[in-house]
Amino acid sequence: MTSHSADNSAHISDNTLPGPGGTLLGKAALVTGGSRGIGAATALRLAREGADVAVTYVDGKEAAEDVVRAVRALGRRAVALRADAADADEAAGAVTAAVRSLGRLDVLVNNAGIGVLGPLDALTVSDVDRVLAVNVRGVFLASRAAAAHMREGGRIITLGTCMTQRVPGPGGTLYTMSKAALVGLTKALARELGGRGITANIVHPGPIDTGMNPADGPHAPAQAAMTAVGRFGTADEVAATIAHLAGAAYVTGAEFAVDGGHAA
Ligand SMILES: NC(=O)c1ccc[n+]([C@@H]2O[C@H](COP(=O)([O-])OP(=O)(O)OC[C@H]3O[C@@H](n4cnc5c(N)ncnc54)[C@H](OP(=O)(O)O)[C@@H]3O)[C@@H](O)[C@H]2O)c1
Repeated sequence: MTSHSADNSAHISDNTLPGPGGTLLGKAALVTGGSRGIGAATALRLAREGADVAVTYVDGKEAAEDVVRAVRALGRRAVALRADAADADEAAGAVTAAVRSLGRLDVLVNNAGIGVLGPLDALTVSDVDRVLAVNVRGVFLASRAAAAHMREGGRIITLGTCMTQRVPGPGGTLYTMSKAALVGLTKALARELGGRGITANIVHPGPIDTGMNPADGPHAPAQAAMTAVGRFGTADEVAATIAHLAGAAYVTGAEFAVDGGHAA
């Protein structure tokens, strides 16, 4: 694992509201997969609430550096860490590196995830191993490492999917299985860590316009039609709910759909 950072300011996304100096002043957050998409929007939103932020990435070094610059432009500290969630040592090591860089850890956002979709017969054992390594084992190991560092007020927020609530068609067995495991992990973490004042919650995005699921992709119209509001969501809309949970002490073991009514 390597870390790097940069100093110049940059604008990452239209991450509006609120301004610097919110509910997370003095807190430190780690967002896995924070170089783009929902993770980058979350890093920016947490920084706007006052948190210092570490982000992990694998391939998007330049994008992660842009996020670091944007967080610093808000007056917060930031670091980008190369850490592959598929690697057990790096998944846990990212937490240690974030604590080393920021001095503490209050919020872990388990955002890094991969989607491998396709019919049962097309999914290889290697597909199964990789998806479970990134989406499940990496989340377990990062959460465990974070819990060891967190004090009272710690927050573990994990990204699931609307497909754990309603699977709208074929092709989602592996991805949905992996994300459903995180519901169980979240509820069990809430029970295990509640006595220490640490909460654990899971956010289920619907179709969100990111590199993983672009709103102009071939399956986008069908996905938008499955929501009640008839459109894709934005990364900022998911980040807003994550930021709320980062500041909420009496919400734990809960699932939050940010899905435009996909599950309605
Ligand atoms: N977009 C949606 O419609 C949607 C819907 C439901 C749930 N979700 C969930 O929301 C989360 C974020 O999705 P997204 O749409 O923002 O994804 P995205 O646009 O594909 O971005 C993924 C992020 O995760 C990082 N990443 C990928 N594999 C990684 C690994 N092995 N280790 C560490 N980081 C890794 C990427 O870093 P690099 O820059 O190195 O590639 C990138 O920063 C995922 O857990 C996804 O399953 C998304």
